[in-house]
Amino acid sequence: MLFYMRRKRVEIELKDIERYKKAVEKLNLWAYQYYVLDKPTVSDFEYDTLYKEVSDFEKEFPDEILPFSPTQRVGDEVSEKLEKAPHLSPMWSLENSYSLEEFQTWWEKLQKPKLFCEPKMDGASLNLIYKSGNLWKAITRGDGKTGEDVTKNAKTIKSIPLKISYLEEIEIRGEVVILKDDFAKLENLSNPRNAAAGALRQLDPKITAERLLTFIPYGFGKNSLDFENFSEEIRFLISLGFRDTERIKAETLEEISNFYLKTLESREKNQIELDGVVLKVDSLEFQESLGFGVKFPKWAIALKFPAVEKSSKILEIVWQVGRTGVLTPVANIEPVEIGGVIVSRVTLHNLDEVCRLGVGIGSKVIVARRGDVIPKIMSGESGDIEVPEKCPVCNSKIHRDGVALYCQNISCKAVAINSIEYFLKSLQIKGVGKKVVETLFEKEIVRDIEDLYKLETKTLLALPRFGEKSAEKLQSTISNSVGKVELWQFILALGIRGVGDVGAKALSKEFGFEFLFKSKDDFLQIDGFGDEISSSLEDFCKVNFEKVERLLEIIKPKFEKIINTKLSGKKIAITGTLSKSRNEYISEIEKRGGIFSKSVTKSVDILLSGEGGGSKLDRAKKLNIAIFNEVDFLKIFL
Ligand code: IVH
Repeated sequence: MLFYMRRKRVEIELKDIERYKKAVEKLNLWAYQYYVLDKPTVSDFEYDTLYKEVSDFEKEFPDEILPFSPTQRVGDEVSEKLEKAPHLSPMWSLENSYSLEEFQTWWEKLQKPKLFCEPKMDGASLNLIYKSGNLWKAITRGDGKTGEDVTKNAKTIKSIPLKISYLEEIEIRGEVVILKDDFAKLENLSNPRNAAAGALRQLDPKITAERLLTFIPYGFGKNSLDFENFSEEIRFLISLGFRDTERIKAETLEEISNFYLKTLESREKNQIELDGVVLKVDSLEFQESLGFGVKFPKWAIALKFPAVEKSSKILEIVWQVGRTGVLTPVANIEPVEIGGVIVSRVTLHNLDEVCRLGVGIGSKVIVARRGDVIPKIMSGESGDIEVPEKCPVCNSKIHRDGVALYCQNISCKAVAINSIEYFLKSLQIKGVGKKVVETLFEKEIVRDIEDLYKLETKTLLALPRFGEKSAEKLQSTISNSVGKVELWQFILALGIRGVGDVGAKALSKEFGFEFLFKSKDDFLQIDGFGDEISSSLEDFCKVNFEKVERLLEIIKPKFEKIINTKLSGKKIAITGTLSKSRNEYISEIEKRGGIFSKSVTKSVDILLSGEGGGSKLDRAKKLNIAIFNEVDFLKIFL
């Protein structure tokens, strides 16, 4: 097995390179058997010996190093910060359901399609982009559109192939987890989920490597695969060298509930931390026709496991005043450890919830926590609670509207401070914490958002805790944001009830600066905008019209409209062989506002048909869809 190498030689012989290549391939195969299949075929000693030979050869002939050699998994470079990187197509989240009945309602609404069932792994999601078969970039989920480039860290994960045999550009998505045995070897880390997410975002890949992460794929982003069912896509993915997990196809409620129960039963002994099962429509054509809501695909749902529960005691109930003036009761409890996290504060949401639970100060309570959800009081002994009549912050009279308690004093310190803080956070203006905002407010320097933009360095210098540098930095960070923030960030920063980042992006894309002039009916046209958000938006725009106009004038957010072309809003499918790669066409189409469709369905407007169009061409003819050959398509649309 050893391959011979003469030191101090400048010329290498072809057969040495060949031997080196074979050794690299052998190491990769052994690693695949160990990390992906969980079936080692050689001893650690054998692996280490060959690894050493490979790495010695590479030191002598660095020009010959293969990018997928196992030595290339850990470099020496430590980054200063993680760079942002865009996903090629958005990374969606999943809608949750908490009982079989809730799941069943969803499934029946879709007319009970065949499903593909998988465990829901509790870790950190990761997007892998392969180009020409090589791992090109690994990006964390981030906000779903843009994440952080963690390629160097991902390369240390042995269950991520550096090279795959599929050559088209493809995004492979999955969950990065720490197996329980590997987690047990680490010290001082709260739980496997946070440990995995933290490890992935290390600046030094060596630390990531020490955390022994595992990657388990669950789907795709941008790709040009051509299968009929999701289960086939996953089978293909596993054949590329990724780690598999329990998955089944199911047609009946019994099969689905059995899968759920079996997975729940295996939860303790499973090496992967699981928090439920994920159920996905198997037919890709049906998936496509269902499409997406604001945050979730309509063709998948998570069915979560019950939460872990512990008992504790309520020590105190405090009322917090939020940026909208709403008072929220929060229970300070005797600290308990639940699922690896110490819980000492639990929100009680509102009066309704407090009455439902009947708990109060001194009550013994049951507290539950799911991996990704804030802790919750499930039940408890009855106890007393005092409903405040005056705002705990500004002492003005509280207004009661059903279960909601409001402080209506528009200059209440808590309301003002929280809105300013939210505004700064949404515009990603860093370095202005709550304490600074509080001081600025108390000294009557910043009473609302407009005041932020009037700040002068010399005013700040007069404040405690500000030096020349920090005063200048704060002033310039705020004034530098003028003309730089995106319109959607600006909309988000306004803090409209029910409008989060996804909604703000949709508003900006749909209406641009005109959003302020729109009515409820216009808002209802946006995919995923229901009655409540649309009403809240209409009211907001009416009441705050002048103020928002003034802010627009001051902050000057940016907005670039997607160019309007003949392809805008049109759905385009592609078939046959073309002179450019499919992905090149997809990106040209998307740049012009078109929507690429993987299959030919009723909703497709145009089929771009290359040589040998096959079944898609036949279907397009049947459905009366406009068909263009490559030459015409280029001439007319691109
Ligand atoms: S599918 C378009 N499948 O759960 C559908 N996600 O709560 C996107 N997750 O962000 C997700 N196991 O990080 C899917 N078998 C599975 C999963 C899974 C874990 C994570 C994933 C996602 C989050 C949503």
